[in-house]
Amino acid sequence: MIDYFASYHFPKGFLWGTATAAHQVEGNNINNDWHRWESEPGRIINGDKSSLACDWWGGRWKEDFDRAVETGQNAHRMSIEWSRIQPEQGRWDEDALDHYREMLRGLYDRGLSPIITLHHFTNPLWMADQGGWESPEAPVWFGAFVRKTVEALKEYCSTWVTLNEPNGYVISSYIWGVFPPGKKEINLAIKVMANMIKGHAVAYHVIHEVQKEARVGLSIYYRKLQPARRWFPPDRIVVGIQEKVVNDAFPVAAQSGLLDTPFLRLRIPEAVGTQDFLGVNYYSADLVAFDLSKKDNLCMHNYYPAKADLSLSGFIANIPSGMYEALKWGLKFRLPMIVTENGVDDHLDTLRPRYILQHVHQVWRAVNFNWPVKGYFHWSLVDNFEWERGWTQRFGLWGLDVDTQQRIRRKSVDVYEAICRENGITTEMVEKFAPEVTGKIFAA
Ligand code: BGC
Repeated sequence: MIDYFASYHFPKGFLWGTATAAHQVEGNNINNDWHRWESEPGRIINGDKSSLACDWWGGRWKEDFDRAVETGQNAHRMSIEWSRIQPEQGRWDEDALDHYREMLRGLYDRGLSPIITLHHFTNPLWMADQGGWESPEAPVWFGAFVRKTVEALKEYCSTWVTLNEPNGYVISSYIWGVFPPGKKEINLAIKVMANMIKGHAVAYHVIHEVQKEARVGLSIYYRKLQPARRWFPPDRIVVGIQEKVVNDAFPVAAQSGLLDTPFLRLRIPEAVGTQDFLGVNYYSADLVAFDLSKKDNLCMHNYYPAKADLSLSGFIANIPSGMYEALKWGLKFRLPMIVTENGVDDHLDTLRPRYILQHVHQVWRAVNFNWPVKGYFHWSLVDNFEWERGWTQRFGLWGLDVDTQQRIRRKSVDVYEAICRENGITTEMVEKFAPEVTGKIFAA
């Protein structure tokens, strides 16, 4: 208990929203590599399928956008499904573009500022079948899709994320093999990295050609990493490798044109200066140990500290200081930053209230130093299909009953609404929603 009132406020115009991705919310997405992946036995926990997802393609985006705006949000980040716009290599689907235009108009009518992601993990089948991002043609294919899409949607949006977590995509698809195409080959991982940077660069230039005022960036999966044993040099070395490959490689390449990894150094001149902002996705932090038994993870063992504040599945540890560290790391790119994702799986909603308040507090610390952080997007608005983890993990402010499509309002809706409406955090808010961490956010 504290007996005074205090508050931390954000600058006027700060963006408060949630983030979603097409395949995770739309439903009936049947023309991409994830649909096929879901049909293969053993790929997804419990054999779960995205199926109807949150039925956004069927129109339920309307009620969910209503929920967002009625609870104080002023922005939304969503993605466009490439396989809908370009179902076959030589064919564009104008109806699908109309559908997205309608959704964007829906955001506009509600006063929700849009951020559009152009690639969020899924590839059209025709593209996957020709090698996906392993193909040297991939940047050109992606560029054509981006041109078509941005030309069609530019009236409603000027902030674009080219690729969501290309670093997470490469690791999940080519090191761990849990995303399609399910490979575990480091040489392919490196090749795909290079092609994705080239794809980003093509997209960046195309977007600016089509829309002068556009702001274009990447959303990077940032992981705060610490050596498990500070005294043990191999642990420090593997932390260095992960920082370079996981955190730095993509935004550094998009800044300097140099893809700089311990395995490959490649100049990609067209990538120089291809970021107008940096999207930071922060969820959690790891200890990292060098461990010869972890062959599947290149002899590196990432784990959470003992006694960490874990989500029920153990998937995420609540380590808010990593959010501040993420933004501190981002400063070196000298760009405006947006927290494009942050959230926790918690179907009981017991951890999420303090997770939100503590992470937003860390964003405020950064903003308080005048670091150029422009917005925060919580992952996610409503429970959605969690990739290889299927429906076992629930990240929504609203819960979803997958069988009935019913939305379930969680306490976290009230927490986030209070933050958005206040444009900040107050002692009252923390005392009301997460008194267990008041002393961590405000001086006792
Ligand atoms: C991805 C989301 C995903 C979330 C939670 C992020 O890395 O961008 O698509 O749902 O993590 O697992």
